[in-house]
Parts: sequence; structure tokens; C-alpha cells
Amino acid sequence: MQNTVNQSIMPVTAKINENGVLEIGGCNVVELAEKYGTPLYVYDEDTLRASCRQYKQAFSPYENVSVLFASKAFMTQTICAILKEEGLGLDVVSGGEIFTASSANFPMERCYFNGNNKSSEELELALETGVGRITVDNFFELELLDSIAKSKDKYVNILLRITPGIECHTHEYIQTGHLDSKFGFDLSQLDEAIELIQERFSNLTLVGLHAHIGSQIFETQVYSDLVAIVSEQFAKIHDKFGIMLEEMNLGGGLGVQYTSADDPPSIFAISEVILNALRENLVKYNLPDPKIIIEPGRSIVCNAGVTLYAVGSSKQVPEGKKYIAVDGGMADNPRPSMYQAKYDALVANKANQKPEETVTIAGRYCESGDILINDIELPETEPGDIICIFSTGAYNYSMSSNYNRIPKPAAIIVQNAQSDVIIKRETYQDLILHDVIPERLMCPLGDGHPLS
Ligand code: LLP
Repeated sequence: MQNTVNQSIMPVTAKINENGVLEIGGCNVVELAEKYGTPLYVYDEDTLRASCRQYKQAFSPYENVSVLFASKAFMTQTICAILKEEGLGLDVVSGGEIFTASSANFPMERCYFNGNNKSSEELELALETGVGRITVDNFFELELLDSIAKSKDKYVNILLRITPGIECHTHEYIQTGHLDSKFGFDLSQLDEAIELIQERFSNLTLVGLHAHIGSQIFETQVYSDLVAIVSEQFAKIHDKFGIMLEEMNLGGGLGVQYTSADDPPSIFAISEVILNALRENLVKYNLPDPKIIIEPGRSIVCNAGVTLYAVGSSKQVPEGKKYIAVDGGMADNPRPSMYQAKYDALVANKANQKPEETVTIAGRYCESGDILINDIELPETEPGDIICIFSTGAYNYSMSSNYNRIPKPAAIIVQNAQSDVIIKRETYQDLILHDVIPERLMCPLGDGHPLS
């Protein structure tokens, strides 16, 4: 079976040139670091488009499929423009994501709005911008959405999010009757939700069910179990309420390779399991073909992205570890400190040199836990060397912060030896943009002060 981009740490265009320097998208990454500064998020457009195409190809044996990108993994106007071209939709979870998509002229009918506590303003924005489907998470939201829809005289197609009783971690999963989760309706609450829709919430039309079982998943069997559970619910709803649901949203979750220890299944392996399970269950429950929706995030963008950092200080603990510090860290990549996530890296300007020492790559933020990679073998480094950390395309920029009042890095996209900024580097001015000093606390800035 063909390998897919989620199975390899590096972007598809990564190579080491004759001078031993890493290139991505035909661009020398050391020159990118010089041109745009560091830290720098670099996205490889070919990898990004390849993952979109692999998803579409993998599900092409089934006629009625929508692939949505879970935009929480990385959301900018440029991503929207590329996804629009590639024919994907979007899973959005906030007013900000809806606004970004609509500002980029994304076809809003391809957007599905998820989330366990959407505000009235966000639901209104969704209706105003023409978001295609709203996935309703709970009883409170059913009532809220119906009243907003009535006040605007609109009819809304909804899915109900269910907790299917499958809990999935990277290497194991459990199946239980009920799951303790903040998301979705327990299966035992579905009948009541549907009765309410039929009896009271007349501006809502139930078109399908949604379930998402976890993230960074390496199992395939779990998707087959999920299809079986959702299909059974389709059959039960048809028998009890006479409603034949049309849309089955199976969420995202496919894992990616962060280090060589990770062995995620390919996009083709996942589609095969889902489509086989679907065929089997449609026959078993005598159901017509529903529309299948999947919403991968990480497996679309993660391996398209790398982060470049410059090496600064270093420290050898006597008879202990050697630390090398870079100019970014937990604010541009919170995943190691939040999830003990592991990464792989190269010294980009010494990419063909042999590893000579085991070092720990530390960030620059004021916390001992700000470590990007523990114990990695690298050639000897000097200040100014460029470290490239791989697989940083998902949930890095989107979870970044201004901790320690440090401006967020820029992001660029590369293809065919061309590079373009897609997110500008923040400035100190940006950091104080929303600061307000109440007048009574205002003291005049002295002459010669840089801001006077
Ligand atoms: N659909 C729903 C409803 C989700 O909640 C998520 C992710 C996805 C799709 C996309 O899942 P993916 O294909 O990316 O695994 N910040 C964490 C990941 C949180 C995922 C939350 N939900 C991380 O950095 O690992």
C-alpha cells in the first residue's frame, strides 16, 4: 500500500544539498532563516497539497464523501485558499475560525461548525455567513440554536454529536457503554434529543450524526468499531422515528510520525477500514448509502511544517547533560511541555555531518520545563547554527502564545524555490496593541523616551 505524508517526519520535498544544507520546497532553509528571521514556521506547499489529494484519492472508491480539514490544527487565510482549491471543506470550532474562512472567501457551505459551548454570537455568525452544517453538542445548544434560527427566520441543517463509547489513546482504546466526556450526547440521550427536535425545535432539521474518538490514533480497528456503532444508531433512529439520516461524520484523529518510533497507518489504510466497515454495516442494517464526512487535522498539516530556530547559548552541566538553547520554545511549540510530545531535528547547516554528542534542546522561556527535545544526537553546534525541528505543522502555531511578552514568529510557505510570508512576524508594537492604561494611572513619558 502506498505510503502517505503522515508516515514520514519530513516534508516530501526535503533534501540535503551538495553543501550539506537542508532544503525544503527547493529553498535553502538557512537562507530562509536569514531572510525571514527565526524562529520561523515553514510550510511546504507540495506536502500540504499531497495530503489533501491522498485523502481525496483514498476515499474516492465511495461516491459520497466530504473531507474537511479540522482548522484548529492550523488556520490562516492562505490555508483556506489552498483547501478551497483542493476541494476540501472545513471543520470550524469558533467565531474566529468562521471569520477567517469567510474573510478568505472560503465557500462557507463546506464548513461544519463543532464545539461544546458555542456562544449565541458565534451561532449567529454561523447563520449569517452561511456555514453548511452545525453539529449540535448538547440540549442547551439545541434550544439556543433553534431560538436564534427562529429569530432570523432560518432553517438549519444539524448533526448531533454523540459519544460513541470508544475512548482512544495512541496505542490502546477502550469501548464502554457510556463515556465520561465533555463532548456530545450520550447514546442514551439521543432519543430525547430527537423527540425535542421533532416536537419543539421546528427550525432545526436533523441530517446526521457526528463522532470524534480522539487524536494521534495509530489503531485502525477503532474506526471500524466506530462505523458499526454509528450505523446501528442510524438504524435505530430510522426504526423509532422514521428518519433516514443522510450524513455520517466520523471525525478526525489519524496519527502522524513525529519521530522514527511512530508508525502510524497510512491514509489509504484508514480509508480501507472505514469503507469496508461501512459496506458491511449498510448491508447488516439495510441502510442506503449515507454521505461520509471525515475531518482530519493533524494528518493534513503536521508533516508539511517545520520550525527553524537559531542556536544561542549552551551549557554543559558538570558530569551531566549538555543543553543548547534556541531562540524559541514553549510559546511557539507548547506540545512538549503540555503533552510530553517528542520531536526529531537536524542542524540544518550541518545536515550531512555525523552526530557527535547527545544534547537537550532548550527553549528561551522562563521555565525549567521549556525543553523542546530531550537527549537528541546532533553534530557539535555553535551559536548561529540553524536547528530545524520537524513535524511542527499541526497544533503549534494554533496553540502558540505571547508568554514572556515575546512576539509570535512568522510563518512562510515554500514551493518551487519560492517563499512567501503567510503570517507576519509580530512586533513589540503588536504586543501592546490592546493594552489600555486608565487615564488616572497615566504618567507622561519622559523626553527622549522611545514612545514619546
Ligand atoms: N474533529 C474534532 C471534533 C476534533 O475535536 C478534532 C481534534 C479533530 C476533528 C481533528 O483531529 P486530528 O485529525 O487533528 O487528530 N492539541 C492536541 C490535539 C487536540 C485535538 C482536538 N480535536 C495536540 O497538539 O496534540
